Amino acid sequence: MSVEDNKRLAAEAAVQEVRDGMVVGLGTGSTAAFAIAALSHRCAAGLRIEAVATSEASTAAASASGIIVRDFADFATLDLAIDGADEIDSRLWAVKGAGGAMLREKAVAAAARRFIVIADGSKLVQAIGAAKLPVEVLPFARAFAVAQLENLGAAVTIRPSYCTDNGNLVADCRFNAMTDPPALAAAIAAIPGALGHGLFLDEVDAAYIAADGVTTRLGR
Ligand code: 5RP
Repeated sequence: MSVEDNKRLAAEAAVQEVRDGMVVGLGTGSTAAFAIAALSHRCAAGLRIEAVATSEASTAAASASGIIVRDFADFATLDLAIDGADEIDSRLWAVKGAGGAMLREKAVAAAARRFIVIADGSKLVQAIGAAKLPVEVLPFARAFAVAQLENLGAAVTIRPSYCTDNGNLVADCRFNAMTDPPALAAAIAAIPGALGHGLFLDEVDAAYIAADGVTTRLGR
């Protein structure tokens, strides 16, 4: 069973939670794309939902596959959101944002009454922190924000030739050890010009992880 097959299985399991009438947040990335495809099949079979998407790419994919996509700006709450991750551990702490959509993804996850991560087994780690941690940075404050991130112990690379859907930069941060993720999340959030980061510590309610063709649910 390939990594792609496992992504698809995790996505299909999560999409079974979607019910008629829900407003659903759609994530970004290759695993989220499988969820969009599975949801579109359910919509073709009669499921009636509305969706909001966390990126222009997911908006285009969902719209093209027949899912009704609305503007997240008009929704204070969502029923459910489904998204991928770069790392997740058994506490349901996750690192997201390799696809650069973490700012919108965080807002959508926070608005959702239930937020589900979907991933193949390679993303399940004992403790998060080895993956690069992306931080969305206001271009106006680039050098200042990078220096502040370096003060927190990060080796920082501005993602080359890259601009988020919000028109900002991404600072990819590597930490030798991420000993206290909640403290790190708070410290990054306090940097003026750092608009969002990929640490998801309180948001995740459940995760569907598929490995070797077997899907396991973590969380409630
Ligand atoms: C995008 C994300 C993605 O969900 C995350 O990077 C996982 O992507 P993939 O499913 O392609 O491995 O956070 O900002």
